[in-house]
Amino acid sequence: MKQPFTASSSSSSLIRKARLSPYLFTLLAFIVFVAILYGEDFVCLLGQLDPNVDRLATITDGRSCHVLGLEKRWEKLPFSIGKTPDGCDLFSGRWVWDDSTRPLYEESECPYIQPQLTCQEHGRPDKDYQYWRWQPHGCDLPSFNATLMLETLRGKRMMFVGDSLNRGQYVSMVCLLHRLIPEGKKSMETFDSLTVFTAKEYNATIEFYWAPFLLESNSDNAIVHRISDRIVRKGSINKHGKNWKGADIIVFNTYLWWMTGLKMKVLQGSFEDETKDIIELSTEDAYRMGMKSMLRWVRKNMDRKKTRVFFTSMSPSHGKSIDWGGEAGLNCFNETTLINNATYWGSDCRKSIMEVIGDVFRKSKFPISFLNITQLSNYRKDAHTSIHKKQWNPLTPEQIANPVSYADCVHWCLPGLQDTWNELLFAKLFYP
Ligand SMILES: *[C@@H]1O[C@H](CO)[C@@H](O)[C@H](O)[C@H]1NC(C)=O
Ligand SMILES: *[C@@H]1O[C@H](CO)[C@@H](O)[C@H](O)[C@H]1NC(C)=O
Ligand SMILES: *[C@@H]1O[C@H](CO)[C@@H](O)[C@H](O)[C@H]1NC(C)=O
Ligand SMILES: *[C@@H]1O[C@H](CO)[C@@H](O)[C@H](O)[C@H]1NC(C)=O
Ligand SMILES: *[C@@H]1O[C@H](CO)[C@@H](O)[C@H](O)[C@H]1NC(C)=O
Repeated sequence: MKQPFTASSSSSSLIRKARLSPYLFTLLAFIVFVAILYGEDFVCLLGQLDPNVDRLATITDGRSCHVLGLEKRWEKLPFSIGKTPDGCDLFSGRWVWDDSTRPLYEESECPYIQPQLTCQEHGRPDKDYQYWRWQPHGCDLPSFNATLMLETLRGKRMMFVGDSLNRGQYVSMVCLLHRLIPEGKKSMETFDSLTVFTAKEYNATIEFYWAPFLLESNSDNAIVHRISDRIVRKGSINKHGKNWKGADIIVFNTYLWWMTGLKMKVLQGSFEDETKDIIELSTEDAYRMGMKSMLRWVRKNMDRKKTRVFFTSMSPSHGKSIDWGGEAGLNCFNETTLINNATYWGSDCRKSIMEVIGDVFRKSKFPISFLNITQLSNYRKDAHTSIHKKQWNPLTPEQIANPVSYADCVHWCLPGLQDTWNELLFAKLFYP
């Protein structure tokens, strides 16, 4: 076992000081003893107190103690084959134009993209949004190796759980992989809340499970989701969670549905109760409750030695041009350029929710791989589906006259931004 130098170098100086007080000496001797006993964990523990994360990282030696990356503790994560260079935050970077390696696939070549996301088919005049590549400041992203990903999934089950934004990331993943599988050896089927892509010869599935709050709610119907007067049921994670058991890699998201603009209604009993016991919590408190439930489920049902858990942060929307210095009353409609203000963050609850996530994950005993895609997606007001998607209801003449009124500034065209989220997932999976 590698001796953690933080512990041993501090011990010599500590002992020197300890001559001043035998009592203190006993205490310090005990700390040193604990440090040796629990060697690596202790360094990790110190790491959380130590602002000098880089120095710590130099002794990690392929293991993972992501003090800020929320993958606590000293352990080799399942599926890892290398590591991201020390001190490189993959989520801090910039977008660069790259028409030689992007897009990673063509819209017309991936039959699995739902018509809400096929922007070219629905008349988007430009393709600029397809050519941006994310470039972290501190290092390069490993290129997405579909063969490696698919081989890794052999005999396994990968599952995306959450709302329609997670469904977009799921479809992107399927599009990135399906070319390797010949016709007739793959399928995609939907059973209520569950959509399953099967790679038959790999005995692998990539699945999406619709649970916009993760917990049980009155918006759970996979086809007709209730949008107004949303109610989420406290402590109900197993209602959906029983369907996630056995996943080898699981990718959660949840955010948008908590944003009611008001307090969140939380049901304490059951939806069947005659008189419902409902309390109202602030968005942040309700969200924290949901996150804690998710972590509890993870601790009980996932095996940290064999499986991985990802959580994708809030997907930003671009519904108000004034947020980025545009004209009042406009939104992402007709936007084809990026926001090039490095500190742009946007309005709504993104900041406070991010704090809740950081808080909850820092205390997590299970290593969660966090895909912090919020900031990099904030810049992409150009990448939404806007009006270039299948409309389920016929548009009214008023809408047609004013496209801003029905532009979708929440979801993203594919190929596009969400392929980058999967490149980041790939990087975190194999090079944590
Ligand atoms: C992709 O992964 C496969 C399987 O691990 C490997 O054989 C191949 O060399 C990789 N390709 C590239 C371009 O790294
Ligand atoms: C296929 O994978 C599942 C897990 O997803 C496993 O339980 C099963 O044994 C595998 N079957 C074969 C034939 O490898
Ligand atoms: C879209 O924006 C361009 C400028 O970027 C402008 O010339 C064009 O008129 C706009 N189209 C609509 C329908 O607003
Ligand atoms: C950049 O964004 C930040 C945060 O949203 C804002 O305070 C600042 O004014 C913006 N800068 C410019 C030049 O628009
Ligand atoms: C995610 O990234 C943003 C900015 O890029 C940062 O402010 C935030 O603290 C990060 N969140 C967590 C939980 O690490």
